Parts: sequence; C-alpha cells; structure tokens
Amino acid sequence: MSGGAPLPDDAWELLADWLPGDDEPDRPQVTLSTVDADGGPDARTVLLSSVARDGLSFHTDAASRKAAQIAANPLVAVTVLWPGFTRQLVVRGVASTADPVDVAAAYRARSPYLQQLAWLNSHDFAALPLDERRARWAAFADEHPDGFGQPAGWTGFVVRPTRVTAWESAPDTASRRREWTAGPDGWSLSHRAG
Ligand SMILES: Cc1cc2nc3c(=O)[nH]c(=O)nc-3n(C[C@H](O)[C@H](O)[C@H](O)COP(=O)(O)O)c2cc1C
Repeated sequence: MSGGAPLPDDAWELLADWLPGDDEPDRPQVTLSTVDADGGPDARTVLLSSVARDGLSFHTDAASRKAAQIAANPLVAVTVLWPGFTRQLVVRGVASTADPVDVAAAYRARSPYLQQLAWLNSHDFAALPLDERRARWAAFADEHPDGFGQPAGWTGFVVRPTRVTAWESAPDTASRRREWTAGPDGWSLSHRAG
C-alpha cells in the first residue's frame, strides 16, 4: 500500500477549506475506524488535533484499544460529518506514531479537564462508584494546583492519507463525491456517485 506522499494541491485545498485551522480551539470530532488483529472492525470518536498536507493527527492513551489495533494493523479511516449533513469527508490512510514534540504540544493545547483525564483514564478508575470517582478527581486536582505534566502513556498518531473522499450535497442537484487516490504514479482524482 502506498502512502505518505503529500496530498495533491486540490485535495489539500479542500481539506484546508473544509476543516478548521489548527489554531482554532474547537477541534473537529471525527470517527476513527480501525481493524483489530483478527480483522474485526472498530470505531470511536476522537478530536482531530491537527491537519497537515502529509497527515491528520489525533492523540490518545498508548494503552488504549485503538493503539493496540493500530500496532496490529496501521490501516485506518477518519470520517468527518458536517452539521446539516451537507458534507462528509472520509480519509483512508496509514497511521504511525506521532513525533514526541507534536505529542507534547498537543497535550499542552488540551483543556485542563482533558489533561487531567489523560491521568485518570483507567479501567479501574472507571469501575469506581460515582461518589468515589468525583472525590478522587477533586483530590487529584487539589494535589496539582499548578496543572498537570504530560503522563507517560500519552501518545499520538499521524494518519498519512492514501485516499481522500469528499462528499457534498446540493439542494438542486445530485450529491457527489470527489475522490483522490494514491497510486504508484501519484494521486488520481475521480468522481463518484453520492
Ligand atoms: C466528542 C468526543 C471526543 C473524544 N476525543 C477523544 C480523543 O481525542 N482521544 C481519545 O483517546 N479519546 C477520545 N474520546 C473517547 C473515545 O471515543 C474512546 O471512548 C476512547 O478513546 C477509547 O477508545 P478505544 O478503547 O477504542 O481505544 C472522545 C469521545 C468523544 C465522545
């Protein structure tokens, strides 16, 4: 599978036009689809941390199911749906571990709540009764009045696109998709029914 080549101008222009800039505080919520070692599909929502011409980045817990699935099979898909069902973007690609500098920057950019969550995001914590989860959450915040450093298990992935499919609706004609596919001779653009 080819991958890793920077997006062609027109696909990049589309992503830059459709997705918010990396400096926008509200990050897009995207569906990340993965496949496990047995070929079983999985999906969940993650925040898109950044978008660059050679990849889309998200950040997560290194001990998570998605991280294990990517280690077993790096082929993933990222789906973005726009309010009002006017646009859908599907990026198929190959995930690889993000650069540590990028991982640290993404942690710093997260809200205090999400930074704390990265510390307390364990199955054991999740199994506690609500009162105890609240008490431990508050105690952890009290113990760290100056904020939280980056936990060891915090990591990130870059999805290097191999296919980008942009679906657009229109009130007065048929919806359609523009699709950029990476091949041995570079990227090709095709049009597909909606
Ligand atoms: C709106 C929203 C945003 C989320 N953002 C993230 C995220 O950026 N990173 C993350 O690891 N989990 C995020 N989650 C939680 C994931 O959906 C998921 O439950 C968690 O990462 C565990 O997934 P896994 O067991 O498949 O690895 C988010 C959930 C929602 C509903």
